[in-house]
Amino acid sequence: MDSTPLPSPGVQRTTASPFPPAPHGMALEDEIHRLRREMNAVILAHYYQDDAIQDIADFVGDSLDLARKAAATDADVIVFCGVKFMAEGAKILSPERQVLLPDLAAGCSLEDSCPPAQFKAFRDAHPDHIALTYINCSAEVKALSDIIVTSTNAEAIIRQIPEEQKIIFAPDRHLGAYLSKKTGREMLLWNGACMVHERFSEEALVKLRERHPGAHIIAHPECPETLLSYAHHVGSTSSLISFAQAHPGEEFIVLTEPGIFHQMKQRSPGSLFHPVPGLGAGCANCNNCPYMKLNTMEKIYQCMATRSPEITLPAELIARARLPLERMLEMSRHIPSSAVGSLSPQSLQA
Ligand code: 13P
Ligand code: SF4
Repeated sequence: MDSTPLPSPGVQRTTASPFPPAPHGMALEDEIHRLRREMNAVILAHYYQDDAIQDIADFVGDSLDLARKAAATDADVIVFCGVKFMAEGAKILSPERQVLLPDLAAGCSLEDSCPPAQFKAFRDAHPDHIALTYINCSAEVKALSDIIVTSTNAEAIIRQIPEEQKIIFAPDRHLGAYLSKKTGREMLLWNGACMVHERFSEEALVKLRERHPGAHIIAHPECPETLLSYAHHVGSTSSLISFAQAHPGEEFIVLTEPGIFHQMKQRSPGSLFHPVPGLGAGCANCNNCPYMKLNTMEKIYQCMATRSPEITLPAELIARARLPLERMLEMSRHIPSSAVGSLSPQSLQA
């Protein structure tokens, strides 16, 4: 199978620019609220976004909950504060809405590791397999898949697939290996990985564990098996937050993107959370997702003021990609939502 090299953490893509200047501080927040009301927009944010963005969002959630919110909203406009594959998912599930992404360069190394033509060739070479594909992929790859999964629902969906059915799992080899072990299902794995979760420092993790022997080690399943072997709990972003919330006043070593600490600290104010640094000397921020962090409050304002950048997809692609996404929603409808509406009632009405 082909393996595509991952991009370097320094995102090199160009960012759209000819925007009106954004106001500062509270005025910026007020303007975003004003535009949100004027446009009848809903602002959706992933847990890896900066604190201020999570605070201004109507809903903060994991990939599954944000897809559910996008599918169910009656807003005219969806402002997606996450990465491009998430905003494309919103467009596919809500094609009649305008979907805005503050920075179109907000990609994902997992998406980059699975080019549609290579994925199609791989599928064609295994006609007796169905393709179970992680939501972190392009719209084209979704359209070539049978069922989409997220880290919240993947295990439950795999358990609904008949034992004799052969499965391709793409694009995350670490999540695939974890699920294979958990469910006892052999799966053909695509060779992709997340550039953030693959690069946490094991040495730093061991030192943190020695310094905080009572801490729970909690990890996202995009981490490689060597890192997951240290974890007391493995789960999606929402699952890690819930686990911390269920152990108030305790200590946690956290193997996922540090944007998650905002919700963890809000829901568990008496607990202590330790981030694990990424690999590399003097690399204080290299456990941040460089794509998620492209979004800023200024860019949110500017994309709302100009209604650009907008996610547009051909209607035939939307039609093909929608089916595997709808199968995912249907097969995980028994899983409760954990998204939070983070806006205060005052800011919604002001
Ligand atoms: P979750 O669905 O667990 O929020 O994960 C999204 C993601 O991109 C993790 O890197
Ligand atoms: Fe993609 Fe990894 Fe960033 Fe998640 S953290 S959006 S998987 S690059």
